Amino acid sequence: MRTITQSFSLRYEYGVAFTEGAFAAGNPVLADVLKRAQDRGPPRVLAVIDEGVARAWPLLADTMAHYFAAHAIDLVAEPLVLPGGEATKNDPGLPARIQAAINAHGICRHSYVVAVGGGALLDMAGYAAATAHRGVRLVRMPTTVLAQNDAGIGVKNGVNAFGKKNFVGVFAPPWAVVNDFEFLTTLDERDWRSGMAEAVKVALIRDRAFFERIEADAQRLRAREMAPMQRLIRRCAELHLAHIAQGGDPFEHGSRRPLDFGHWAAHRLEALSAHRLRHGEAVAIGIALDTVYSGLIGRLAREDAERVLSCLEALGFELYVPELAGGPALFEGLEQFREHLGGELTVTLLEGLGQGFETHSVELERYRKAVALLRHRAIEEVGA
Ligand SMILES: NC(=O)c1ccc[n+]([C@@H]2O[C@H](COP(=O)([O-])OP(=O)(O)OC[C@H]3O[C@@H](n4cnc5c(N)ncnc54)[C@H](O)[C@@H]3O)[C@@H](O)[C@H]2O)c1
Ligand SMILES: [Zn+2]
Repeated sequence: MRTITQSFSLRYEYGVAFTEGAFAAGNPVLADVLKRAQDRGPPRVLAVIDEGVARAWPLLADTMAHYFAAHAIDLVAEPLVLPGGEATKNDPGLPARIQAAINAHGICRHSYVVAVGGGALLDMAGYAAATAHRGVRLVRMPTTVLAQNDAGIGVKNGVNAFGKKNFVGVFAPPWAVVNDFEFLTTLDERDWRSGMAEAVKVALIRDRAFFERIEADAQRLRAREMAPMQRLIRRCAELHLAHIAQGGDPFEHGSRRPLDFGHWAAHRLEALSAHRLRHGEAVAIGIALDTVYSGLIGRLAREDAERVLSCLEALGFELYVPELAGGPALFEGLEQFREHLGGELTVTLLEGLGQGFETHSVELERYRKAVALLRHRAIEEVGA
């Protein structure tokens, strides 16, 4: 019997729009996105809102209803307001609630789920949408810095299970992403800051000029100025999107994940701190650790390593937490990182500002030294 070889390819295209006041009646961005397909009849929308966003924007549900009415878009029900933050990915009942609503209101593959919220809510709602009818159209409206420059713009959706992050999930590109900068004004200080860690990360491995821009803007970013933040989000989103489109592995079949610079430790620190640390806060520490390590193995110049640490500190990140001293508990992160990607351990390190490289083996002794240096630096800071 001869094997039949099946082969086809699919082209994906979606817009990541940047706007302010997306639900102001005169703003066409979202309506255009929902009308792009030119299906018969008005577009049908099930809206899902992050509870944290709903609290910060009490009029949001009403504003959305007006917006959709003004644009002849059929909002099939009151927006579902669901818990945001990591809790949303830990409760298997929540995707089920979205799917129950998809079922109850006849949302089909030509209808839309419009999800408004942080990266966690978007991951969860995206998973629900991607698995209902094997995939209904999803419009993401990210409301945090991290979600606008990273979590909300890519192809990954998922929830946590068995104590592991993103254990259950699916690669599914969204129909579109609409980033509304206005939402960022109500973020608490930690969420405003933590999303910037991903920008520093991608700048360090890909784009020196971007790193230098962040360095120069650090005080203004810390002071919550909008103009440099918009610039940061846009460039960071651009680099992430370019990686997905041009990196050769959008659905991560390989073992390489160059954009996960600083992440093996970050994921572990999030777990070890029982999620006291936000993702971005843990990423900043993970970046610091891998930067110092890159210096210790002689790949990164000392002055460059110092610039990275100073930039993170200028943005307001703390670069040492007691969990770093966990030794074996911390280094389990390397094995978990390998397991999540499958295949060979691949860690991204730095050989210059804007220049990452990959390695398949690391020296734990040097990592212990890197931890000690970060600790020492933190003590000096307090003493200063
Ligand atoms: N899918 C991906 O590619 C990808 C990439 C990176 C991270 N992630 C995931 O993203 C999640 C983290 O996302 P996050 O950093 O956006 O935080 P988050 O979603 O956990 O939100 C943090 C808090 O802010 C609240 N909030 C959200 N927007 C707000 C606003 N505008 N005003 C006031 N409060 C607001 C939320 O309710 C929540 O309490 C993690 O679960 C992580 O695994 C996914
Ligand atoms: Zn990250």
